[in-house]
Amino acid sequence: MQKGEFVYEGKAKRIYRTEQENVFWMEFKDDATAQNGLKRGTIGDKGIVNAEVTRRVFQYLQSHGIPTHLREQVGERDLLVDGLAMLKLEVVMRNVAAGSLVKRLGIEEGRTFAEGIVELYLKDDDLGDPLINDDHALALGLATAEEIAAVKALGRKVNSLLQAYFLAADLVLVDFKLEFGRRGNEIVLGDEVTPDTCRLWDRETRQKLDKDRFRQDLGGVEEAYQEVLRRLVASHA
Ligand code: TMP
Repeated sequence: MQKGEFVYEGKAKRIYRTEQENVFWMEFKDDATAQNGLKRGTIGDKGIVNAEVTRRVFQYLQSHGIPTHLREQVGERDLLVDGLAMLKLEVVMRNVAAGSLVKRLGIEEGRTFAEGIVELYLKDDDLGDPLINDDHALALGLATAEEIAAVKALGRKVNSLLQAYFLAADLVLVDFKLEFGRRGNEIVLGDEVTPDTCRLWDRETRQKLDKDRFRQDLGGVEEAYQEVLRRLVASHA
């Protein structure tokens, strides 16, 4: 399969066409942004880690019945994926209080929730991706009621699968973001699942091993990304 015409460049990935209709080449970059693009930098070899982490996570999810856009890995930072009609929604799942939730609700970081929390955000950079609820999503025509229900059910199922997957690597899945799209009538998981889009803490020390090291200038960013991949490889042959 060849990388074809350039289609789109996002903050962390470039998308190209391929010779096959509706199959796209997703290239993971080392570029990193935070605070809605205000903070910019690069994380060495992040694209390599993120392509392999996404490939491993999506293969695991697919083997447990979650439909994803992944086809195959074709380079160290390159995945082939199905084209999806993406919903203008971000689905965030939270197991432990961190990030924007701590600020919004005034609770302490690290509080563990008995049940995962599902949140919906409107995907709109100009508005800073505001938190919305099901009624907003429906009123704005972002998805049908059935699709919103499907997205939330898939979010919960992915959450319980990935909590176990990461815990086997001694990583606590604190929270993460998912994006879904339509493939025919089916709702399918797209985009990526990586240390850019998840908060992952060491199970024992609670050390942060994700993009918060970049967001909060904690140092050891590259090492944290490499450590996540190393643990996933070691725990899931
Ligand atoms: P938050 O605490 O900033 O709302 O983020 C929750 C989770 O979602 C965290 O793991 C980071 C991820 N996330 C993204 O991947 N992209 C985004 O644009 C945002 C806001 C969060």
